[in-house]
Amino acid sequence: MAVNGISGKIEDATNHLDVLNLKYVVRDWVGPWWKGACFRKLRHKCIINDVTLRLMSGEITGILGNSESGKTSLLDVITCRASGKVTGDVIYNGTRCTNNVIQNHATYVMQADRFLPNLTVRETLIYSAKLRLPGCSTSEEIEKRVTDVVLAMGLKDVADTRIGGSIIRGISGGERRRVTIAIQLLKDPDIILLDEPTSGLDSYTARHLVSNLRDLARRGKIVMLSLHQPSSDIYSLLDRIGIMSKGEFVYFGCAKGMVQYFTEVGYPCDKYTNPLDRYVDVASMDRRDKDSEIQSLIRVERLVKILKTSRLQLGTFRRISDDFRRGPRAGNREAVERPGSARVLVTVIRSTGLHPGQLQFIRFTAVVFLNCLWSELHTAAFHGIFLSANLAQAVTGLCLSSYSLVATGFLKHF
Ligand SMILES: Nc1ncnc2c1ncn2[C@@H]1O[C@H](COP(=O)(O)OP(=O)(O)OP(=O)(O)O)[C@@H](O)[C@H]1O
Ligand SMILES: [Mg+2]
Repeated sequence: MAVNGISGKIEDATNHLDVLNLKYVVRDWVGPWWKGACFRKLRHKCIINDVTLRLMSGEITGILGNSESGKTSLLDVITCRASGKVTGDVIYNGTRCTNNVIQNHATYVMQADRFLPNLTVRETLIYSAKLRLPGCSTSEEIEKRVTDVVLAMGLKDVADTRIGGSIIRGISGGERRRVTIAIQLLKDPDIILLDEPTSGLDSYTARHLVSNLRDLARRGKIVMLSLHQPSSDIYSLLDRIGIMSKGEFVYFGCAKGMVQYFTEVGYPCDKYTNPLDRYVDVASMDRRDKDSEIQSLIRVERLVKILKTSRLQLGTFRRISDDFRRGPRAGNREAVERPGSARVLVTVIRSTGLHPGQLQFIRFTAVVFLNCLWSELHTAAFHGIFLSANLAQAVTGLCLSSYSLVATGFLKHF
């Protein structure tokens, strides 16, 4: 049983999402598009560089950093949405994260809110639940899940209010953000990743939202969010903080220990200054002129090096490596690798867009199979009855259309 040196919690009882030596490189074509691929220069841009961290259930982690520091890219890579070359590992409870693992366990709340303005909050959630939950879920189960999520996100008072939009007035911006998050929670994920959920909100609403997310974390979820200009109130709500610069971390550890850590490496924080503002500034690249840029580069590189060789980071690295070597945790759904043929079958099923519950897929297959059998029987029978082949084909076509209507109704209803 391993004890985490930073928070002092016993890790084996918790779920953990680990990132080990993660590197993300994209290909970037430099030059105007009309020069074409042959004449433009190809540049390899390292966006995430050698990142190692551990996120644990029950905790909320805030990722900060100046613009372009790589916060969104890190979330993209963890959720298998990266478009470039990724090396290193993302591991959930000892299992390397694939699309499948992420789909089963994680949810990613992006920045944009897109809703139908005329639906109420509850209607929006019910429609989303019908699309997201397994096809075999009953109406009662869907209603219950929606009610749970409405309560968890503090949307009870606006549940029956229209969402609204630019023309029709509806719920507030903060409530819209909470509805976006609520939709992602319908699946009851173990890992919740959010990209700047508080951007555009006033400090009170932002704090309320982060407090909701913290409550979710306390219910055993892994919560990680990227943040822009968080207030000192939000700082006190976070369990862990990561500060990024140029795709690397200059700090990743418990929130309470951050000021002491930076003070020890030469950057104290005034009593009346928000520590988050102070240390994001310290980690930022100053690009006003060449001298400032060189100085900030030296500062950031020093901080990255100090963190990499710190006991904090070396301890995390050792724990993650040991756990990964030990293999997937017993009872992990993804621990059993599917044989190649099964993987192909699953891919085929998914690529049909059905992604069904097993029962629903069996029903669908049976209906398609019966349809084919039925059509052969019809054709044979009608050729015996009608002398004209064209007439036989026409009647067969009519029968098949009516059969397809009935079958579609059957599939939709059950
Ligand atoms: N697919 C890509 N191709 C080229 N460059 C990319 C790609 N993805 C990200 N980048 C670059 O990587 C850097 C980090 O981008 P990212 O969006 O992760 O930053 P961020 O920290 O989320 O910034 P912000 O706070 O402004 O949202 C940026 O310079 C961006 O231009
Ligand atoms: Mg971003």
